[in-house]
Amino acid sequence: MTDRELVSLAHTMLERAYAPYSHFPVGAALLCRDGQVFTGCNVENAAYGQCLCAERTALVKAVSEGHTSDLDTLAVISRGDEFCWPCGACRQMLYEFQPNLRILVARSDQTYKEVTLDQLMPHGFGPKHLKEFQ
Ligand code: THU
Repeated sequence: MTDRELVSLAHTMLERAYAPYSHFPVGAALLCRDGQVFTGCNVENAAYGQCLCAERTALVKAVSEGHTSDLDTLAVISRGDEFCWPCGACRQMLYEFQPNLRILVARSDQTYKEVTLDQLMPHGFGPKHLKEFQ
């Protein structure tokens, strides 16, 4: 799957977003090295603190299907002119599994910037910091 196709797939997920409170739909698509793709959208809740981001929806779908060490590229998109940067909680959750994950940060016209998670979260905290205590 090409980067453009991955962004386009994330864009289709905007339709699935459940965002009745923020009115800010987000779509995500996470490509694994074997070619499998896990999609996600944000899922909000009347108890606002329980809102789940699109990226984490896609991530937990991948991890729960056994994809913990082969995450390759994540595309994330919303509506509007701004690029949709992953929030801090999503960065941290992704960092656990792939600190140098490729991320395609898109805006609604499907133009995107390519970054790595490392760039978005330098000096991140991850499993390696706990190793000597295990
Ligand atoms: N949101 C995401 O899905 N991903 C992000 O990285 C940023 C925020 C969602 C959460 C909430 O449903 C809405 O956008 C507004 O914050």
